Amino acid sequence: MEERIVDGEETEEDIELEMDIRPSLLKEYVGQKDVKENIDVFIKAAKIREESLDHVLLYGPPGLGKTTLAMIIANELGSNLKTASGPAIEKPGDLAAVLSSLEPRDVLFIDEIHRMPRNIEEILYPAMEDYALDIMVGGEGSTRSIRINLPPFTLVGATTRAGDLSGPLRDRFGIVCKLKYYTTEELQQIILRTSRVLAMPIEEDASFELAKRSRGTPRIANRLFKRVRDFALVDGKASIDLTTCKTALERLKVDDMGLDETDHQLLLSIIQKFNGGPVGIESIASSIGEEITTIEDVYEPYLLQIGLLKRTNRGRMVTSLAYEHLKIDYQKDLFG
Ligand SMILES: Nc1ncnc2c1ncn2[C@@H]1O[C@H](COP(=O)(O)OP(=O)(O)OP(=O)(O)O)[C@@H](O)[C@H]1O
Ligand SMILES: [Mg+2]
Repeated sequence: MEERIVDGEETEEDIELEMDIRPSLLKEYVGQKDVKENIDVFIKAAKIREESLDHVLLYGPPGLGKTTLAMIIANELGSNLKTASGPAIEKPGDLAAVLSSLEPRDVLFIDEIHRMPRNIEEILYPAMEDYALDIMVGGEGSTRSIRINLPPFTLVGATTRAGDLSGPLRDRFGIVCKLKYYTTEELQQIILRTSRVLAMPIEEDASFELAKRSRGTPRIANRLFKRVRDFALVDGKASIDLTTCKTALERLKVDDMGLDETDHQLLLSIIQKFNGGPVGIESIASSIGEEITTIEDVYEPYLLQIGLLKRTNRGRMVTSLAYEHLKIDYQKDLFG
């Protein structure tokens, strides 16, 4: 996939930057009030009972802070964090190895948990429920399964698609948290924090402008901040002001709603090729040359959220707001 400044997916550069700017305590984690308050209570209760925290499932679009929250949970529990990723677990033995390396009250974070093969997923059921690992031993007609006890641990699963998780797996999470898009004010707070951590001041109105164009996503806010900081640096400015901010965003082709060229392409293709819709996701994908899953996970959720796109049972449709935003005459397009 071509790299977009406003997509929520992680890049190498993000990973480097994130080591410094990632909050490590719950109180530094901006927004997601309900999720934060609940997790705070469950962590405190687990500590009082001296038990492991119940398994946690975090879901929501990319870049909203699932990995960050998993790290915070381990940190607040005073536990070790072990991480694994769904697509990287290829054989049952891979997962068995991770599970048998766990120590009491460890937190095991499995990112993209929906991408774990079903036959491997099944190993997790007894592990989550009974802290047990069933291993097949022997061969040639004499296979039997032996059960190994695991220490009590907490599984934190993250996914952008809760719907792709099997029922039995989903049911084994005692705590299920949906992360939401952030408000402009919350993103502004995140930008101001990043500005302090990276020691590059930003003016109030500039931070608001950046926040407004960050698609409700902290990762994008931090990434835009970093790019705008480059422009300020080259211009010899000691702080980021609104002018630099606007010029930089224009150069980066991020519009005033945070949409980039791909978003424009997506909306325009529905308007111009499919008369505004309804149109199936497959047709949109092939018309703009993107994967269906990428459109569903990365591009579409925000366009739906801000009301430029809507989903009907006959397919996707652009709204009058989209015509307005793209400055296309609604009537003329229908009949002209
Ligand atoms: N609530 C928050 N407060 C402050 N910063 C945050 C918050 N949530 C996320 N961030 C910042 O946003 C960036 C992305 O967050 P994170 O990597 O946790 O997202 P993610 O949900 O795991 O994304 P993905 O689905 O791509 O794995 C990090 O740099 C992190 O510092
Ligand atoms: Mg992540």
